[in-house]
Amino acid sequence: MSEPTAKDLLVQNRQWSDNTRSRDPEFFRRLASQQNPNFLWIGCSDSRVPANQITGLVPGQIFVHRNVSNIAHPTDVNLMSVLEYAVDVLQVKEVLVVGHYGCGGIQAALSGRLPGIADFWLEPIREIRRKHASQLVGLTGKNLEDRICELNVAEQVETLSHTGIVHHAWERGQPLAIHGWIYSLHDGILKDLDVSRDRVV
Ligand code: CO
Repeated sequence: MSEPTAKDLLVQNRQWSDNTRSRDPEFFRRLASQQNPNFLWIGCSDSRVPANQITGLVPGQIFVHRNVSNIAHPTDVNLMSVLEYAVDVLQVKEVLVVGHYGCGGIQAALSGRLPGIADFWLEPIREIRRKHASQLVGLTGKNLEDRICELNVAEQVETLSHTGIVHHAWERGQPLAIHGWIYSLHDGILKDLDVSRDRVV
């Protein structure tokens, strides 16, 4: 099968729109009138980890932010704007931080060979390695990499739980939980890492 071009995507899009309408004539009318997702997904940009598809959700059900290696820099204006809008305006109930094994960003950070911007972006990954050095002793290769993929998710849940946006929501009694999950490219399964937060600690 040859890879589609951008032009092909427009054709596929027409087909999708037609199919969707023939199954559910009110679909777009309903969606256009409101956006009411319960979830905010913070995941990796990796093309193999598409939020809607792997959770079986349709448009309108999940608000999505993706970046390289699903990192929540507290100084990232882009992510913090998404978080603020999701929590304050959309009032999502659950934030999902979703990492994946075999993450190219994490592999790059651990290999230590990165130019410019990517090097800055991935610094938190190396920080995680330093911070958890004692529990990483003895791990090498893929085992080390997999563990850091998991620790990275836990770390970002922690970071988000300390943002003003999340604290204020909890202080005013708004129901909001932050979960950390990891996805396997080999079987398409999402695993809960049991690092959830739903109150100020
Ligand atoms: Co990745």
